[in-house]
Amino acid sequence: MIILGINAYHANASAAIVVDGRLIAAVEEERLNRVKYAAGLPAQAIQFCLDRAGAKISEVDHIAVPRDPMARLGTKLRFAMRMPRFALERLRVMKRFAGVQQDLASALGVAPQEIRAQIHRVEHHMAHMASAFFVSPFDRAAVLSADGLGDFASAMWALGEGLRMRVLGEVTFPHSLGMYYTALTQYLGFWKFGDEYKVMGLAAYGQPEFLEEFRRIVRSHKSNAFRLGLKYFTHQSQGAEMTWRDATSTPVLGRLFSPYLEKRLGPARRAEEPLTQRHHNLAASMQVALEEVLVAQWNRLAATTGERNLCLAGGVAFNCLANGKIFANSPFERVYVQPAAGDAGLSVGAAFALNHQVLGRPREFAMEHAYWGPDFSAEAVRRAVDGANLDSSDLQISSMDADPLVQRAARHIADGKIVGWFQGAVEWGPRALGNRSILADPRRAEMKEILNRRIKHREIFRPFAPSITEEAVREYFEQSHPSPFMTFAFPVRAEKRAVIPAPTHVDGTARLQTVSRAANPLYWQLLRAVGELTGVPVVLNTSFNDNEPIVCRPEEALECFRRTRMDVLVLGNFILERKSAAIEREAPAGEIARGAD
Ligand SMILES: [Fe+2]
Repeated sequence: MIILGINAYHANASAAIVVDGRLIAAVEEERLNRVKYAAGLPAQAIQFCLDRAGAKISEVDHIAVPRDPMARLGTKLRFAMRMPRFALERLRVMKRFAGVQQDLASALGVAPQEIRAQIHRVEHHMAHMASAFFVSPFDRAAVLSADGLGDFASAMWALGEGLRMRVLGEVTFPHSLGMYYTALTQYLGFWKFGDEYKVMGLAAYGQPEFLEEFRRIVRSHKSNAFRLGLKYFTHQSQGAEMTWRDATSTPVLGRLFSPYLEKRLGPARRAEEPLTQRHHNLAASMQVALEEVLVAQWNRLAATTGERNLCLAGGVAFNCLANGKIFANSPFERVYVQPAAGDAGLSVGAAFALNHQVLGRPREFAMEHAYWGPDFSAEAVRRAVDGANLDSSDLQISSMDADPLVQRAARHIADGKIVGWFQGAVEWGPRALGNRSILADPRRAEMKEILNRRIKHREIFRPFAPSITEEAVREYFEQSHPSPFMTFAFPVRAEKRAVIPAPTHVDGTARLQTVSRAANPLYWQLLRAVGELTGVPVVLNTSFNDNEPIVCRPEEALECFRRTRMDVLVLGNFILERKSAAIEREAPAGEIARGAD
């Protein structure tokens, strides 16, 4: 039984393939076509999934698409009558989906009649919820999906039991936590698609000075989760337009905040304007108001379901700051967030919703790691190294077995070098989790600035995240709940903040990745080796890229290494060491500690 899940004609296009109830592969189109947040039909992702499953498109039994044009049709029609432009947009989307079989056939170069799979529509939030619950380790759990908008709803919650999810409630357009966050992100001068996480990082620098006003912008609602103060927004009167030219362009969102919001909070920040304390306080107020709504929602959900397990999905589930507060602020004890919690994850969700809720097949799979994308043979890596355009006078290239390789990489990290780490399969979801990562010493406070200057070129207020062996979590963090996919920020223990200053954010939290030996043996071994050298089994882990989608192929890793000032690249069994590696950071351990003060 082969099921192909496709998130198409929407940002974060992706594909996933499930064979006999088990996920075989999943990847976002952006990793393959190199266009950030790529929308359109994920033709390359689909082809990769088929190849990985060893199947032809003609052998696929079912195709699951996470959008149901018939969902909430009455509400959509009422809205369309008020706003003809919206109606046209809906029609355009429906037409696109009607032609999915034709598009797929031409993208894969086959005749349409070769695709014999039945095409199923799965409602957007049902697919989000399925993307978490059906791959979680829980047989029963409360499930919550919250995002910007999908199939005319922005949130849904349910009780998941075995093969079913019983929907308990939903919030429909125009009320939306995702829209709220995006509108305020725009107001703060961040207009690029997907910029919300930047503002989350900014919030730590401020105080919630404007909380009273923000409680009018978004507020908890007893019987139906939350409400927006609609006069602060434009999407309910002008629509929420996400546009993209085709699969080769990043989507763009129109302006979502109204003149009234500017009247109440002052003029919006222009993108080029410097960030001031006022902006920090606005970001903090926005985050706190969101958390208040979520805390109330978690508690209502726990009370209605009686559950202690929670599954989260939808873009709001990427708010790791809020997620980190679940344990102290609700009865939930175990929380599962799938690595691609946003719309990319819909392909996995649609496939599993179909597998269990429609086909009634048993649950036999839990997603315990994130490595579902392309990987490359030793031969492919060797070819890439041989063919790379590198300055060999400045490089030492060697190849070695895993054990000495890990020791050598650990030594470089401990010595303050910046190490590109490329191993195994590409991560599913937006975070680098130790297979396509850039690693550095977390003990050196200056590392953040060095990484930004030499490689990442990103806003200085944005935090870097740590990876830590699961055995050491309790020693460093105030929470020890697993965070294998970097979806929780927990407070670093007060006495450890000076030990790992680089990935500790200004509010004392860190968005950690807990690494188990079972999930990623080689990366776990590397963390252990770093721990043996430095006494601290932690590395600073940032994604392997420089203002582009995370690298996928070895050629992209080599190109990123070539054009940035990375010191070392570990690529499969190869290690490339720059002879001129900067010595600016090679301070003895004593100085490292002083630097952290
Ligand atoms: Fe969504």
